[in-house]
Order: sequence, then structure tokens, then C-alpha cells
Amino acid sequence: MTTTPANASPSHASQATRAVRGRVLHFQRDPQFHEDAYQYWEDGLLIIRDGRIVAAGDHGRLAAEIPAGTEVIDHRGKLIVPGFIDTHVHFPQTDIIASPSPGLLHWLETYTFPEERRFEDPDYARGVAGFFTEELLRNGTTSAVVWSTVHAASADALFAESHQRNLRMVTGKVLMDRNCPEFLRDTAESGARDSAELLSRWHGKGRLGYAITPRFAPTSSEAQLATCAELARAYPDAYIQTHVAENRDEVRWVAELFPHARSYLDVYDHYGLLRPGAFYGHAIYLDQDDRRRLADSGAAVAHCPTSNLFLGSGFYDFHQSDANRLNVTLATDVGGGTSFSMLRTMNAAHKVARMGGYYLTALRMFYLATRAAADALGWSERVGSFTPGCEADFIVLDPQATPLIARRSARSETLEEQLFAFAMLGDDRVIDQVYVMGEAV
Ligand code: GUN
Ligand code: ZN
Repeated sequence: MTTTPANASPSHASQATRAVRGRVLHFQRDPQFHEDAYQYWEDGLLIIRDGRIVAAGDHGRLAAEIPAGTEVIDHRGKLIVPGFIDTHVHFPQTDIIASPSPGLLHWLETYTFPEERRFEDPDYARGVAGFFTEELLRNGTTSAVVWSTVHAASADALFAESHQRNLRMVTGKVLMDRNCPEFLRDTAESGARDSAELLSRWHGKGRLGYAITPRFAPTSSEAQLATCAELARAYPDAYIQTHVAENRDEVRWVAELFPHARSYLDVYDHYGLLRPGAFYGHAIYLDQDDRRRLADSGAAVAHCPTSNLFLGSGFYDFHQSDANRLNVTLATDVGGGTSFSMLRTMNAAHKVARMGGYYLTALRMFYLATRAAADALGWSERVGSFTPGCEADFIVLDPQATPLIARRSARSETLEEQLFAFAMLGDDRVIDQVYVMGEAV
């Protein structure tokens, strides 16, 4: 990276304005369904003022608009895209990533619950939250919908670490009052009270948002789900996150626990938890009625391909997802997922789709990891693209990051080929620079 003044009057340089030059790509729509879904400038420019995008476009056309003395940061040859948004990731599972297990329910009992117990100690929670946010940034993820544990202090820790770094982040305290170890249990009343307190403390503070977070139907009593319904009604702009239809054993268990529900998804629907801003992790074992209901409700799916492969959970059905126009987004699901990298997540997503006879393009995957997630979070005018007025959270990807990626990039004749090389071969090594609100971090 080199830095040069745009012209010769640095004494008038505005501290608050800067320009960034490179290959600039962002999405306005889903390239699967629209011709004019994205904008790409081979020699592109972003003009940023006070941390927000003022203009994005071709350098030749925009250069004249750079105010005199503005710092121009030169990333020529590298690709600039909006920061990745991971829509489902468990920060307390950072240290148990890659734990060997035959499947979800065993993995929860053996690794996850004992580790989550440690977060009753606020100092421990703070330490992991700090590492976790740095690890997200190292991987080019500037926003995420994050799971905490059942302990309110764990959500406080993640919010505090995010706030300190000025990150746009969502999290929530896990709600679970049954079918889990005693040491991780809340009650319907305490869970609702803690959630309401966290909501009033953090939701809308700076760049933070709160998610009402029932772990999954098996670990919440009907009484607790009823409190989720009340919270959702009381806070119509709060986010919601949970797991649904991830694993066949889990689906059978839910059918036993909720004999009157039409389906697993229907349990959540009954409690008013399907709406815009709700994120359903996994969503593999759905039927046609579920998919229609998800689409109509405006809720989103967080597709977690590395986790689904690692835990042997199943394959997300992209044909059915598209046929019903589901709001699908991409997520790591660390620690069930095996990488913090959204590029590695794309790699797995492509192969999972392939196993279902579906071809997921790299353009689509970059859209899913940026604009699609921003739209699902109601952040179309905040992050996820370079629309003027958006907050300047963006990343710089280096096509020379490794000898192999350099060789493959040299052969790339199209944007799709270059993005595909990043998605198939890339990980944190490709992330050359990360900007949050226009500042390099
Ligand atoms: N279902 C309930 N809890 C979890 C979790 O922590 N991870 C995954 N992958 N699935 C879950
Ligand atoms: Zn999860």
C-alpha cells in the first residue's frame, strides 16, 4: 500500500476525507436473479468522508472530485469489496473449534456445554470476546450476528469489545431452560428479564444491535418460547436468531417435544418468531410449506456449510431455496463450523451446492457474504455496499497473497474467475487490509 496526496496542497488536507484506489466491486442485487446486480471498476475509487462513502466509481471519472490535499490510499491491483458479514457464529465456541465428534447432539454435550460454562466468569468472557473480534477482522469479517452464552455477562463482553472497536455487531444472550446441563440453565422469567435488560443497555447503542436468542426448540420450554414471543412483540426492531432443522435426530426430537406443531419451523412460527431480522441457522430439513412460510415472513436463512459438512448434518438445498426465493445468507457457525474465513465458507458452500446438482457462482457467493446479509439485517443503507451514505467498512483482497493464488490469478480472464480463485484457494492470508468506518484496522 502506498499513500500519495491527490494534488499539491497538503496543508489544506481534510483529516476527515480520504480516497482509496483499487479494483472496486459491490452488489446492489442478487446476481442469480438480476442482470445489473453489481458494479465493478477495474481502476476504481472510493471517496470517504467522516467514515462514510461519498462516491464510488471509475477512477478516471471520479478523480476530479477528490478534494485538494486528500490522502489517496493506493491498493491498485487488489480487490476492494464491502466487509464480509457472518450471519451465525458462536463466540464462546472459539476455543473448541475443530473438536472431533460423530454429530451435533454429542458435540453439544461433550465440548460445547462444558466450554460455555466457563463464560459465567466475566473476565474469561472478555478475554475470548477480544480475541474473537480480532479474529473476525483478520478474516475480513467486519460485521456478524453472534451467539453469546446463557450468561448475560457474555453478551456484555461481546458488545463491549465490539463497541470499543466501533464494529457493527449483533449478539444476544442464549435462552435455554431445559434439556441442557443444570449449570447452563436459565428460567423463562430470568431469561426474559436478562434479555430485556441487555436490550435496553445495548440495542441501538452506536453500531450495536440485540438478538433475541432461544438456542433451539429442544432447550426452551413452551413457557420460555412464550416469553420470546412477548419480547419480540415488545421490541419490534430487535433481531432474532435460533437454529432450525439442522440434523435428522434433532428434527425427530422436536417432533416428540412439540407433537402439536406441524413442523420444526412451525414451533417458532407459533411464537411469532418469523419476521424480517430473524436468522434461522441451517434450515436443511424443511418442507415446501416451511420454505413458503420462511419466504413470506421475510426471515433469513443462515447457511452454514462448513458446519454442516463437519458435523455430518446434511446439505442445504439451493434449488428449493431459490425456487422459493429464500433470503439466504452465509455463515461460519464457528465452532461447529471449521473456519472463521468467509472465503473458506464460500468454498464449502460451492461444494455443498454441487452435491445437490446446483452451481453456485463466485459472484453470488460474494453477494451472499456482503449485500444479502446487510439487506437481511435491514442495513441496506448502512453497510454491505458502496452506496453513498453507507458506512465505509470494506476489505482489500490480494490476488498475490500466496504463490499459488498469484499463479491462478494471473490466468483469470474474468471477474468470476478471479473471485472463484479467492473462494476456492483463499482464507485469511488473502485479506490484505480491513477498514472500519474508513479507518484501517
Ligand atoms: N443447535 C443448538 N445449539 C447449537 C450450536 O451451538 N451449534 C450448532 N451447530 N447447532 C446447535
Ligand atoms: Zn450455531
